[in-house]
Amino acid sequence: MKILVTGATGNVGRMVVDELLALGADDVRALTVDPERAALPAGVEVVRGFLGKVETLPAALQGVDVMYLAPHIPTVFEACRLAADAGVGRIVDLAGAKGDHWQEVEDGVEASGVPFTHLEPGEFMANTGIWAEQIRAGDVVRDAYPEAATAVIAQEDIAAVAAKVLVTDGHVGKSYELTGPESLNRREKVERIGRALGRELVYVDLPRDAAVQQFALAMGEYSEWYLDGLAQLVGHPQAALPTVAELLGRPAMTLEEWARRHADMFR
Ligand SMILES: NC(=O)c1ccc[n+]([C@@H]2O[C@H](COP(=O)([O-])OP(=O)(O)OC[C@H]3O[C@@H](n4cnc5c(N)ncnc54)[C@H](OP(=O)(O)O)[C@@H]3O)[C@@H](O)[C@H]2O)c1
Repeated sequence: MKILVTGATGNVGRMVVDELLALGADDVRALTVDPERAALPAGVEVVRGFLGKVETLPAALQGVDVMYLAPHIPTVFEACRLAADAGVGRIVDLAGAKGDHWQEVEDGVEASGVPFTHLEPGEFMANTGIWAEQIRAGDVVRDAYPEAATAVIAQEDIAAVAAKVLVTDGHVGKSYELTGPESLNRREKVERIGRALGRELVYVDLPRDAAVQQFALAMGEYSEWYLDGLAQLVGHPQAALPTVAELLGRPAMTLEEWARRHADMFR
């Protein structure tokens, strides 16, 4: 079974390649902009191209049975139509919660008529990088909406699920909502990162105006928009789901474990 991984050096895509090899997949093709720089593992067939440059896709799609589709919205309809033309048997796409910004990925996949499996992760653990600069500078984290809670997921788990779903049967037509193992509010997230680093971090809840300025340091004009999203989560915490554990037969990674693995980000 030939498996194509698109966006193969992406944060998730690169780990999908490794997970496929670990599961024993022996016919993996990786699509990447710059094969020399990509330094993909031996045994992987590397093809030059990008989902955003659809003219590179027909050659990459030739003979492919299953495709991992990275989230690239601008060309998703055309890319999936080309997959259908090439006779791809199934698409496993990385999207997001139904109806959110990533909905177009699922729409493009479904419009192609190719059998599909949708992966729908919520917020990524990597988003806690928003605090990295403050944590590198000291023990105080100035933030807002401490009670806003999400069940953040490790990109490692998304990749492991993608690989499992690519190589096994029984997933056609399914949408898998993916979360981490626990719903944590922002104060708790900071506390877990501190625990992983062996430090006691102090969480400071800023008033809205000060928060807008603080967040603008990391996200500029999107600061207000991000804070509005956090405000909506207060009183509506995202629940943790068992989907990752059910698919992988092991628990999803905790934020504390993830922060231990990525401690360099905060040091
Ligand atoms: N729920 C969520 O929060 C959610 C859900 C879905 C997606 N996302 C977003 O999706 C991303 C995760 O997916 P990922 O790790 O596969 O993506 P990524 O890290 O953004 O990588 C995408 C890959 O596509 C290729 N690429 C080449 N040119 C590009 C261009 N001009 N624009 C974009 N990509 C280009 C690159 O790989 P090559 O060089 O190998 O070609 C790149 O590494 C994150 O950015 C995340 O924010 C978030």
